[in-house]
Amino acid sequence: MNEDIILVIGSNGQLGSVLTRELQKVHGHDNVIASDLYVDSCFSGLFEILDATKITDIQRIVKQYSVTQIYHLAAILSAKGEEKPLSTWNLNIKMMLNVFEAARFSTVNKVFFPSSIAVFGDKALLEQTPQSACLNPATVYGISKAAGENWAQYYHTNYGLDIRSIRYPGIIGHQSMPGGGTTDYALDIYHSAVRLESYSCFLKAETKLPMIFMDDAVRATVELMKAPKENIKIRTAYNLGAMSFDPSEITAEIKQTYPDFIVDYCPDSRQLIADKWPKSIDDSEARSDWGWKPEYNLTTMTTEMIEKLKEKYNTIKLK
Ligand code: SER
Repeated sequence: MNEDIILVIGSNGQLGSVLTRELQKVHGHDNVIASDLYVDSCFSGLFEILDATKITDIQRIVKQYSVTQIYHLAAILSAKGEEKPLSTWNLNIKMMLNVFEAARFSTVNKVFFPSSIAVFGDKALLEQTPQSACLNPATVYGISKAAGENWAQYYHTNYGLDIRSIRYPGIIGHQSMPGGGTTDYALDIYHSAVRLESYSCFLKAETKLPMIFMDDAVRATVELMKAPKENIKIRTAYNLGAMSFDPSEITAEIKQTYPDFIVDYCPDSRQLIADKWPKSIDDSEARSDWGWKPEYNLTTMTTEMIEKLKEKYNTIKLK
């Protein structure tokens, strides 16, 4: 049997850390090489220090392990990216093209490249945003993802490289923390509630955005990568939907468990980003092409988030 050897780039990140553990289960613990700029002391498995802006370093690891699949998850996110637009563009594009080029001339036969709801802007229909809606992103992160989608299609059409991609909504999970995104509030708010603190929200109460529970996001990624090649009809990136809510709705859900939980609203520059993003997503192509179906909604996610974060904070207290 030909075993796949997986390289995860950005394995310390919010999605990378959870996805890497799942890939170890799917492909075998020793068939997954995690990589990032520094070692995470909690990580167990094969690990390489990797700066993906250096193509020769990617090529060295690909060759050393005869890598067959790369999951390239390293990127500067939407809010943080606005602090240094040009370096965000340079970094996001350089890493992505290095991965695609390293894959093209090697043993790699499949690449996962994450896209985002940030590719959309105010020219798209923002309710049930269609797969083929106009892309006029307003952030450098969104511009780099939209360009990345087109490059993915280019490498597939011209070089036959099997690159697959998802436009993730905001990802919410108890296992890891996000860094520098506009949807981060929806995770921060659970941490405050479980610590019995109040929360100051950087978006307005009625700012509805598409979100997904980490377990669903990881499962979607694995399912997309496992799907037969002929089912993958979209070579830019698939719309992916799961749930949509605004800060007042997640607060009401949390109050079911913590009735005294207090949230106030102090919108900052992230509000301007969120205002141009979809409120909900039409993911019918993902559903029909490779069978996507989310399992979690706001209520079931909230139950699980609170339970798991309580365990986490109790463990920290006991240490
Ligand atoms: N969660 C990301 C962000 O907020 C969107 O992909 O930047």
